[in-house]
Amino acid sequence: MQSQSNPIYPVLWQDNQVLLINQTLLPNQYEVVKINSYQDMAKAIKTMIVRGAPAIGIAAAYGLYLGARDIKIQERETFFKELEIIAEELRQTRPTAVNLFWAISRMLKTVSETAGTVEDIKQILLKTAQEIQAEDLETCQKMGDNGLLVLPPEPQKLTLLTHCNAGALATAGYGTALGVIRSAWTAGRLERVYADETRPRLQGAKLTAWECVQEGIPVTVISDNMAAHCMQKRLIHAVFVGADRIAANGDTANKIGTYGLAVISQMHNVPFFVVAPLSTIDFELANGDLIPIEERHPSEIYQVGETRLCPDGVDYYNPAFDVTPANLIKAIITEKGVVKPSELLTLKG
Ligand code: MRU
Repeated sequence: MQSQSNPIYPVLWQDNQVLLINQTLLPNQYEVVKINSYQDMAKAIKTMIVRGAPAIGIAAAYGLYLGARDIKIQERETFFKELEIIAEELRQTRPTAVNLFWAISRMLKTVSETAGTVEDIKQILLKTAQEIQAEDLETCQKMGDNGLLVLPPEPQKLTLLTHCNAGALATAGYGTALGVIRSAWTAGRLERVYADETRPRLQGAKLTAWECVQEGIPVTVISDNMAAHCMQKRLIHAVFVGADRIAANGDTANKIGTYGLAVISQMHNVPFFVVAPLSTIDFELANGDLIPIEERHPSEIYQVGETRLCPDGVDYYNPAFDVTPANLIKAIITEKGVVKPSELLTLKG
């Protein structure tokens, strides 16, 4: 069985390398993968050793530094050209979570505005990656505090439902949606969390449940198709989910199945909240139709472990994310406060 350190940090900078918790093996095996090159980081993001929007951004930032570290050129302009090639390779890993693009842009912008030698620039890249990571942790804690403000006043002990894993494993630590649930637990407002298993990759059953067990938070795992029944039975008081990219009008891309959950929440009058840092908001995109949706390999659907589920001769469609229209979202909880989706633009810096 797994052993781990508490709190949970999915990405760690230690001894001049990046340590990633291998999220593809949890909960059965706790393994830390050492990453020393940008190519290995790109592979780790693609294969979901590290996953979750903010964690992907942090990993990509360190990946860019690792790539820069290996560039031998000392001439600034040529160095920047090489750096851009590495940045582009990292951008190609996963298309939906905007934090990936945001983190790479921030890294590049910081150094493009810096005078100094190539060696200075490399150090600034490392420092910026560390800042992105430290800020995300702080941001998650603020979102946790802000989330307490929207909890239904009754009953005192709430049952909250979440989808996928928007926890410590998906961020620098603590989490977005699961961060709010953690804060509710600490504040004595949580009876239990219902975790959708989240087909096909099972981030809810594997990762959210694992995080809750680490902290002694009571958790009930349900398969995705049970959520409507649970709401009909009045078992759920509110839903909190994370986000991979939020368009300027509040339409929100998150793990496939989130949209369906929002529809049934509205049907049952269960408040539906999105929890996300400002780095997940893409003010450049007017609405959710413009969000690129990743499609992953069909094997995620047709097999579980080594067991094949479906007969030969069938076709597959495996979108990894869907878009929840803004009108189904009661509020978006950010580090800067709680806003209605229609008020999102007020947060633009
Ligand atoms: O495919 P994944 O596991 O990277 O998808 C993760 C999600 O959809 C999360 O809900 C989202 O990134 C928010 S994480 C704080």
